[in-house]
Amino acid sequence: MIYLRTIAVAIATAILQLAIAATPNNATPTSLHDLAREITRVESIREIKDIQRTFAHLSQFGKFDAVASLFSPNATFIHGGTTNATNITGIPSIAKWLRDDAGEMNGISPGSLNTIVVENPVINLAVDGLSAKARWNGLRFAGDGKGGTKIQGGIYENEYARTETGWRISLLHYYGMYEGPYVGGWRNMGGRGIPIIPYHFTPEESGIVIPPAVGEAPQTNISIEDVERRIKRLNDEDEVRNLMHAHGYYVDRRMWSDVVDLHSADTKVSIVGVANYTGLGGVRKALERMGPENLVQGIANDHPIFDMIVDVAADGSTATVRGIEIGMLGDANTRTASWEFNIFRNQFIKENGIWLVKDVEITPLVVADYYKGWGDGGTRSNTSYVPPFLPSTGFRFSGSKSAGTKIVSRTELEDLYRRLQRSAAYDGAENQSHAYGYFLDDINCAKMGALFAKRGHKASPFAGFFITPERIDGACVASYGTNRSTLRQSISFHWRPQPVVLVSEDGRSATLRARLLQPSTSATKSGAFNNAIYHDQMVLEDGKWRLWSVTIDEHYWTSSTWEGGWADAKPRNSSAPDPQPASWTKKYPPDVTIAEVGLRESTFRGGSGKYIEWPEIQRMWFQYSNLVSGRVPEYYWPGCVPCQTRPDWALTANGYQEPPTGSASRNGTIS
Ligand SMILES: *[C@@H]1O[C@H](CO)[C@@H](O)[C@H](O)[C@H]1NC(C)=O
Ligand SMILES: *[C@@H]1O[C@H](CO)[C@@H](O)[C@H](O)[C@H]1NC(C)=O
Ligand SMILES: *[C@@H]1O[C@H](CO)[C@@H](O)[C@H](O)[C@H]1NC(C)=O
Ligand SMILES: *[C@@H]1O[C@H](CO)[C@@H](O)[C@H](O)[C@H]1NC(C)=O
Ligand SMILES: *[C@@H]1O[C@H](CO)[C@@H](O)[C@H](O)[C@H]1NC(C)=O
Ligand SMILES: *[C@@H]1O[C@H](CO)[C@@H](O)[C@H](O)[C@H]1NC(C)=O
Ligand SMILES: *[C@@H]1O[C@H](CO)[C@@H](O)[C@H](O)[C@H]1NC(C)=O
Ligand SMILES: *[C@@H]1O[C@H](CO)[C@@H](O)[C@H](O)[C@H]1NC(C)=O
Ligand SMILES: *[C@@H]1O[C@H](CO)[C@@H](O)[C@H](O)[C@H]1NC(C)=O
Ligand SMILES: *[C@@H]1O[C@H](CO)[C@@H](O)[C@H](O)[C@H]1NC(C)=O
Repeated sequence: MIYLRTIAVAIATAILQLAIAATPNNATPTSLHDLAREITRVESIREIKDIQRTFAHLSQFGKFDAVASLFSPNATFIHGGTTNATNITGIPSIAKWLRDDAGEMNGISPGSLNTIVVENPVINLAVDGLSAKARWNGLRFAGDGKGGTKIQGGIYENEYARTETGWRISLLHYYGMYEGPYVGGWRNMGGRGIPIIPYHFTPEESGIVIPPAVGEAPQTNISIEDVERRIKRLNDEDEVRNLMHAHGYYVDRRMWSDVVDLHSADTKVSIVGVANYTGLGGVRKALERMGPENLVQGIANDHPIFDMIVDVAADGSTATVRGIEIGMLGDANTRTASWEFNIFRNQFIKENGIWLVKDVEITPLVVADYYKGWGDGGTRSNTSYVPPFLPSTGFRFSGSKSAGTKIVSRTELEDLYRRLQRSAAYDGAENQSHAYGYFLDDINCAKMGALFAKRGHKASPFAGFFITPERIDGACVASYGTNRSTLRQSISFHWRPQPVVLVSEDGRSATLRARLLQPSTSATKSGAFNNAIYHDQMVLEDGKWRLWSVTIDEHYWTSSTWEGGWADAKPRNSSAPDPQPASWTKKYPPDVTIAEVGLRESTFRGGSGKYIEWPEIQRMWFQYSNLVSGRVPEYYWPGCVPCQTRPDWALTANGYQEPPTGSASRNGTIS
């Protein structure tokens, strides 16, 4: 009893702290009007993300008039390099420019490809909730089916406006940084150094989950039932997003049993124009087309997921997702590799309170041999089917019903607000995750360090862990030096797409798994891709989201060069000595070395065991058990990575809840 009461008091205190922490002006909603305004602000962040994702979905099929209709009537469109650019206004001019720019690389002409991915958002909503700014990374893979190809990469610093019919893009400003054809690859634009692309945010701002509203909330006719439904819809979106992203990580590792666990019994898998499969046995058959369960030496099976939109049905019992999947596949044993450009459009169903994958529909656009490229259109599937787009330009929840309960108790209001904050935490954690990527790309050590909590810690690759923002900044400087040109001759980007974000019950802490997809560019040689995984935790500290724990794994695969790609890798000489930790650690030693982390990093450079390097298969660890079945993965490491060595670095030792580590979030312990 005493124990229970202690928990009750702890939860009450946590909720109170949450309310105070999350709203610096102490504006815990005191009425349904207040709460409705807070919900609209979280929904706005989601709607802005979906508008930009729709830009990617429509571009892929050359629907340029529809793309232009995502802009506000007086929108400005700036597109170019870092020194000069196109600068136009108005929807018809934007449509024309997009069409002319694509030419026959429009996704419509036979064999053509126009896959644009826009990812890694850091979004800033204005205090009045009527406009927003966002930074995104962009990457475009294009071809005309007749030998012409183009790869382009850069940064968007965009603005958005809330109109009467939904959010629209009011400014698109694309700063092209690198480009080139498939054969020969890309380089810095103009062959020059690349300047820092201006930021719309500071490290202080990136963690503020939606600035507090000012003034009195507008009167509404909203009922408690409407409020509950809207919050539930946001919470459901988070669960579906996690499930699909987790599904993707299992596919990449060929963890077929874990993939099957996420499906409902009456599931279907359809690979459009190729084959259909039904039931759980069918799912396994569809997966085995890629190969048998588990990765073996030399196999790369990555299918990164980009720009996924989640549409939860009004009754909350089903959901549809649509997104872009790029297969980066290969076999280093035979030095064969390929690209796949696919659309997925999947159905989810909620059974007994648990979300499950119901139907998977994959539409292959282009499959191409890595060593030839997609210039000739590759093996294009024999279908003209365009997977239907999801609605994105309206408001998520159109209007409130006037019927329903209007009176709400303080306790109900606080609990509803806590549930809303758990969805706001998803965006806050994602925001902070991408802010980290951008400052690291620019090797801005001080700003990167400033994203961490006062007791936050970070793994520096091949070195170890450093704790506190000052030490993290110091390790970055020790590793990269201080004599860096403001015009960068080369950049290694830190894309962190496909997050799985598990939020604690009180909404004050989160665990985040993300992919590291690392395109690079240089003035003098072609860039290439590498890949790894991040295992992070975030906290709400003094009303701001901060990084608590950041761990990067070793690369799971690397590209020898652009020409060689990821399948051009020879096994290392197993009798050669294991590589030593980075030499700069002698001058600036970590607080916890990689060897001290123990088993978790034993196969990393500087670890306590035998080093593993691609094309050998590095161990891949998970912070969570299977999100549906609870199946425990072979390599399971809940909590922060160095926490088994340093329990005092754990969230729970510092006044935070440990976020769920799997199905606990689905069996009633978190609601
Ligand atoms: C665009 O139009 C809206 C009203 O429709 C106005 O508030 C806004 O200032 C205009 N923006 C620009 C850049 O002209
Ligand atoms: C940028 O300037 C170069 C040379 O001055 C010109 O050839 C190019 O077309 C310009 N690009 C744009 C997008 O205006
Ligand atoms: C684009 O054009 C507008 C209107 O002519 C101008 O105000 C703005 O400064 C221009 N921006 C850039 C980056 O050239
Ligand atoms: C993301 O960061 C921006 C600015 O850096 C901040 O203003 C915004 O509120 C944050 N958004 C979320 C959802 O955390
Ligand atoms: C609330 O409902 C009443 C009755 O239907 C209507 O007259 C009033 O305009 C509504 N108020 C708001 C703010 O929507
Ligand atoms: C898969 O099923 C759909 C819908 O039943 C059907 O239209 C399609 O032809 C089937 N595809 C194949 C390859 O059998
Ligand atoms: C695609 O399908 C159509 C109709 O079934 C057929 O006539 C055509 O030859 C097929 N093309 C390819 C490349 O398989
Ligand atoms: C800094 O870098 C420049 C260009 O690479 C070089 O010429 C200069 O000597 C370096 N300065 C120091 C202090 O290392
Ligand atoms: C492998 O490494 C051992 C120890 O360094 C060395 O003696 C041997 O020559 C190497 N073998 C090859 C094929 O490089
Ligand atoms: C929920 O699941 C977790 C982990 O599987 C377990 O420890 C916990 O006891 C379960 N709680 C309930 C209420 O079933």
